[in-house]
Amino acid sequence: MNAPLSRIRGGVHASVKHDSAAGHTNGQALYLDDIPMVPGSLETALVLSPHAHARIISVDVSAALAADGVAAVVTAADIPGKNDIAPIRTDEPLLAAGVVEHEGQIVAAVAAATLDHARAAAKLVKVEYEVLPAVLTVEEAVAKELYVAPVQKMERGDVDAALKAAPHRLKGEFHCGGQDHFYLEGQIALATPGENRDVHVYSSTQHPTEVQHGVAHVLGIPFNAVTVEVRRMGGGFGGKESQPTIIAGIAALLAWKMRKPVKLRLPRDDDMRATGKRHPFYYRYEVGFDDDGAIKGLDLLLAANGGHVADHTPAVLTRALCHSDNCYWLPVLRFRGLPCKTNTVSNTAFRGYGGPQGMFAIETILDTVARYLGKPLDEVRRRNFYGQHRNNVTPYGMTVEDNIIEKVIDEFDRTVDLQGWRDSVIAFNKTSPIVKKGLATMPVKFGISFNRPALNQAGALVHVYMDGSVTLNHGGTEMGQGLFIKVAQVVAETFQIDIDNIKITATTTGKVPNTSPTAASSGSDLNGMAAKNAAEQIKDRMADVAAEQFNVPKGDIVFSSNRIYAGNRSMSFAELAALSWEKRVSLSATGFYRTPKIHWDFTTSSGRPFYYFTYGVAAAEVAIDTLSGEMRCLRAELLQDCGASLNPAIDLGQIEGAFVQGMGWLTTEELVWDNKGNLRTHGPSTYKIPGSRDVPPVFNARILQNAPNREDTVFRSKAVGEPPLMLALSVWLAVRDAISSLSDYRLAPKIDAPATPDRILAAVDEIRARA
Ligand code: MTE
Ligand code: MOS
Repeated sequence: MNAPLSRIRGGVHASVKHDSAAGHTNGQALYLDDIPMVPGSLETALVLSPHAHARIISVDVSAALAADGVAAVVTAADIPGKNDIAPIRTDEPLLAAGVVEHEGQIVAAVAAATLDHARAAAKLVKVEYEVLPAVLTVEEAVAKELYVAPVQKMERGDVDAALKAAPHRLKGEFHCGGQDHFYLEGQIALATPGENRDVHVYSSTQHPTEVQHGVAHVLGIPFNAVTVEVRRMGGGFGGKESQPTIIAGIAALLAWKMRKPVKLRLPRDDDMRATGKRHPFYYRYEVGFDDDGAIKGLDLLLAANGGHVADHTPAVLTRALCHSDNCYWLPVLRFRGLPCKTNTVSNTAFRGYGGPQGMFAIETILDTVARYLGKPLDEVRRRNFYGQHRNNVTPYGMTVEDNIIEKVIDEFDRTVDLQGWRDSVIAFNKTSPIVKKGLATMPVKFGISFNRPALNQAGALVHVYMDGSVTLNHGGTEMGQGLFIKVAQVVAETFQIDIDNIKITATTTGKVPNTSPTAASSGSDLNGMAAKNAAEQIKDRMADVAAEQFNVPKGDIVFSSNRIYAGNRSMSFAELAALSWEKRVSLSATGFYRTPKIHWDFTTSSGRPFYYFTYGVAAAEVAIDTLSGEMRCLRAELLQDCGASLNPAIDLGQIEGAFVQGMGWLTTEELVWDNKGNLRTHGPSTYKIPGSRDVPPVFNARILQNAPNREDTVFRSKAVGEPPLMLALSVWLAVRDAISSLSDYRLAPKIDAPATPDRILAAVDEIRARA
C-alpha cells in the first residue's frame, strides 16, 4: 500500500481541545501554589506604602523581626545587586528606596514560617514617612509635562493647513479608563536556593527570561545562575509580562538571604494595589472633514497615564499610535503621544497593548463626525477605509498590503441582516420611552509582531525517544490561551504522528534560553515556527535512515499517518525512531525562528513593525435604562480573521473571551482612586469584571473561512489572542447610539469610558438638556 492521505489525530487546523481542559475543571492541572512545600520553607507578606508620594524617613523592622515565626525582613538595603527591575528603561526599584511614588508601592517584605505569621509581622514594620504632594491626574501631568519616557510623534503633511482648509472642523477631549487584569491566579513565585549560589524560581510569568534577568540583577549573579520555570498561569493578560519580576525578585532575595525556599503569593487586594494595569488615556483632538465625512486632517493628542515609572509605557504608547488609524487612511495627521508620569501604580501591558486605546480614539471621533453630519457611522467609515482606490500608507509609513476589511464586512453582511436589525432597534425606541436600545458595528485591523524587531524570535527544543514518543519544549508560556496545544499540533503535523505522542513540558530558561515574552499575540506564530523548525531537522535525519533502510532515494520517503512509507513498504514512526538510534543518528534538535520583513526606527516612529494585520468586524446591540443608567448587551455578532486557523475551537474561545474582557474594560470595570491617591477598588466587591450573566444572551462568534494568511506564517494561520478584544468597541459605540437616540440621533453623547451606570445617566441628562 502506498502512503495514504494524512490521517492523524490532532494535526493543524483540527479543533483539538485544550491539553489541560479536563485538568482545569477537575483540579488536576498543577498551578504554582499546588507545588508541595518542603519543611522549612517560608511564606511572605508585603509592607505597602499607604501614601501616593512620600519620603521614607526611617524603616524600623525590629518588632517584626522579633515576632513569632519570623525568619527575615528585607528592605532595599538588603539587595546585594541592583535595585532595578525595569523591563525597558532603567531605575524601577524592586523595593522602594528613599521615596515612595504610589500607594501600594512595596517597601519591605517579611518571610515567616506561615503566611499568618508573615502577615501579622508585616503590620509591625514601622515606616516613618514625610508626605509629599502627589500628581494624581493625567491632566495635571500633561500640564506640568511630567513624563516617564520621551514624547512620541507621528506626522504627515501640514495638519494646521489641512484643518483650516477642511469644510468642517470639530474638536474635543475625552478619556478611557484603565483595567485590572483580574487573572484568576494572582501573582506568585517560589524561589529555592541551590548549590554554588544558584537560584531556581517557579514564577507565574509570561516572560521567564525577564524574571531570570531581574533576579540575576537583584542578586548580582550571572544569568546562568538563575533558572526560571513555569508550567502554566491561571491567566496573564499582559499583567504577567513585567510584574512577575517584582514578585519573583522579592522571593529570590529572601531565599538568597535565608538559604531556604520562599514563596510569595499576593492576596487579591495587594495584587490590585501593588501591580500595574491597563493604561487609562486622555485625548484631545481636532478633526477636519468634508460633507461625506472623509477625513482631511486629524490632530490627535494621546496622553497615557503611565503611573510612577516607565515599565511598558513607551511601547504601549507606540502601539496606541500605530493603531490610531485603525482601518482608515488619514491623509494629513499629527499624533502626539505623551507617556505621563503620575503618582499611581505603574501601568503595564494589557491585552491589546495600547491598540484598544488607539482605536477607542479614532472610533469615538468618527462617531462624533458621523452624528455631526447626520450620516450613519458605517457610511462615514466606508469613506475613509484603506482600499484600492485610496492610499494604503499608515501614519508610520508601512504600506498595508493585506487589507481585507471590506471583504470581511461583506462576509459579515451576508450572515447578519444589519438593516433589519437596525430597523428593529429604531422601531423599539419609538415605542419605549424609558429603555432605549443602541446598535453599532466595529471594524478592526490589528498589527501582528512586537514593535521592537528583536523580540520577534523564538526557540524550541524537541526530542524523539526510541519508542517514537516526543517531548516538546519552547520559549512560549501557557496562560490558558491554548498555545501549548497549538504548538503540539504543529509538531504532530510535521512528524505526521497522533498528538497523543507529544508530551508538552513546562517552559524553562534552562531548556530554551533568551526568550521573548509570550505576548503581542505572537506566541504561536513564533514558537510554532521554531518547533516546526526543530521537528523538521529531526524528520530530515530520520528520512535519511529510512531511505537507507528501504534502499530508495530520500525523496521517495513519505511520513504519513504515523508511518513512514517507501512505495508499498512502510514502518511505524516508533520503529524508525529505534532504528535511528541504532544507526547513531541524533533524535534531538533545537529550532529557531525569526520573523522576516520587519524593521522599526524608534527615532522617527516609522518602519514596517508588523509582519501582517488581522481583521475582524462585530456588531452589538445594547439596551440602557434612562432612569437608572443600567446597561445590558443583548446581542453580539463577531467575525474574526484567523488566517487558516491552527485550532478553530481554541480560537473561538479566544474570540469570545477577548470580546467579553473588552466589554468589561468599556462598561463595568472602573478603577477609582480617591483624592489621596488610594485605590478604592481593589477587590471583586467594588471592581466589577463581567460575570456569566453579562455575556450577551445572543452571542455568535465566527471565524472567517477560506482566508489563509498571505504571508508565510505557521501553516498560514494568524494570531488571535488580542485582536478580538477591540471588537468590543462595538458595545461602546452601541451605548453611545442608545444615548444619541434621545436626540433623535442628531447629537454625539458626552461620555467617557467605562460607560458605567452613573456615566450613562449623566450623559442621558446632558443630551436631553441639549436636544
Ligand atoms: N487567553 C487566556 N485564556 N488567558 C490569558 O492570559 N492573554 C492574552 C491572550 N489570550 C490571555 C489569553 C494576551 S494579553 C496575549 S498577548 C495572548 O493571549 C498571548 O498568547 P498568544 O501569543 O499565544 O496568543
Ligand atoms: Mo499581551 S498584553 O501582549 O501579554
